[in-house]
Amino acid sequence: MFHPAASALASILSTPTRLTRAGRFEAVLNHIAEEVEGLADRGRPADYIPLLAEVDPRHFGMAVAEADGTVYGVGDWKRPFSTQSITKVFTLALALSLEGEHLWRGVGREPSGNPFNSLVQLEHENGVPRNPFINAGALVVTDRLQALTADAAGRALELLRTESGNPTIDFVPEVAACEATHGGRNAALAHFMASCGNLTTPVPDLLAAYFWQCSIAASCKDLALAAGFLARHGTRTDGSALLTKSQAKQINAMMLTCGTYDAAGEFAYRVGLPGKSGVGGGIIAIVPGVCTLCVWSPGLDRRGNSVAGVLALDRFTTLTGLSVF
Ligand code: DON
Repeated sequence: MFHPAASALASILSTPTRLTRAGRFEAVLNHIAEEVEGLADRGRPADYIPLLAEVDPRHFGMAVAEADGTVYGVGDWKRPFSTQSITKVFTLALALSLEGEHLWRGVGREPSGNPFNSLVQLEHENGVPRNPFINAGALVVTDRLQALTADAAGRALELLRTESGNPTIDFVPEVAACEATHGGRNAALAHFMASCGNLTTPVPDLLAAYFWQCSIAASCKDLALAAGFLARHGTRTDGSALLTKSQAKQINAMMLTCGTYDAAGEFAYRVGLPGKSGVGGGIIAIVPGVCTLCVWSPGLDRRGNSVAGVLALDRFTTLTGLSVF
C-alpha cells in the first residue's frame, strides 16, 4: 500500500543508530495507526452476537510486548474489548500443560478449511474436531480443562490476569448471556460430540464454561503481555514454566496453521506469524523469542478476522522484518 509517510519511516528503520529499539517500535506503531486511519473499508463488527454489533467499528489499538515485558502501544491499546476466540489459546495452553499428549485423543491438529462454527466436517469425522481453534475443537479443550479443574473459564481468567499483571481483567456477564441466547450452533456442535462420546462434561455445563470464557474483556496491552509465554518458549512472567519449549512450539505452529480459520493460509502469506483472532476484532500474534503483538479493530472480513487488524500485522512484519520466515 502506498502511503506518503512510508518512505520517511523506511529511512528511519533502515538507520539503526538513529533510534532506540523502543523508538523504532513506537515509530512503526504510529505509522501503522496513520495508515489504518485512511482505510476506506474496515469491515463490519460481528452481528450474530448483538452486543458485539454495537461496538464502534472505528476503534483501533495495537500493542507490542517484548519478551522481557516492556510494552508499547498506539490508539485504543488500553481499552478492553471482547476477547472471544483469543481465549482459545489460553485454555489450550492450560489443558496441554495439565493433560499433555492425551489431549490429542479428542481433537486434531490440522487446518479445517471451514468456517469456525461449521458443523459439516464434524459429522464426517466422527465427532473429532480438526483442531483446537475452531469452535468444536475449543469445546473439547474446555471440556478437558473443566474435567481437570472444575473451573475452565476461571482458570483462563486467572492466567490472563497473572500474565498481564492486570487483576481487573474480568468476565462480562451480559456478553456471556448473549452468547448463550445466540449459541445454537455451539450447542449443536457440543451435543453432536457428546453423542460420539467425545465429551465428559454435561453439555449445559460445558457451554456455560465456554460462553464465560468467550466473554472475557481485555485490552491489547493486556493480551500482548499475557501471551508473552509463547514468545518466551513457554516461560511465565515469574520465570516458571507453563509449557515445555516443545509445547510452546506446538501451540505457535497451530496458531500459524489454524488460528485464523479458513483464512489461515492468507494470514500466513500476509503476516508470516502465528496468530489467533476473535470475533470481537482482536488478533494476537507471536514473534517467538522476540515479542508478542495484539491488535484490535472491530470490523471483520467475511471469515471473521479483523480487517484493520490483519492489515496492521501485515504492515508490522513488512516494515520491521520480524516474522518467522
Ligand atoms: O463461539 C462463538 O460463537 C464465539 N463466542 C467465539 C467465536 C470467535 O471468536 C471465533 N472467532 N473468530
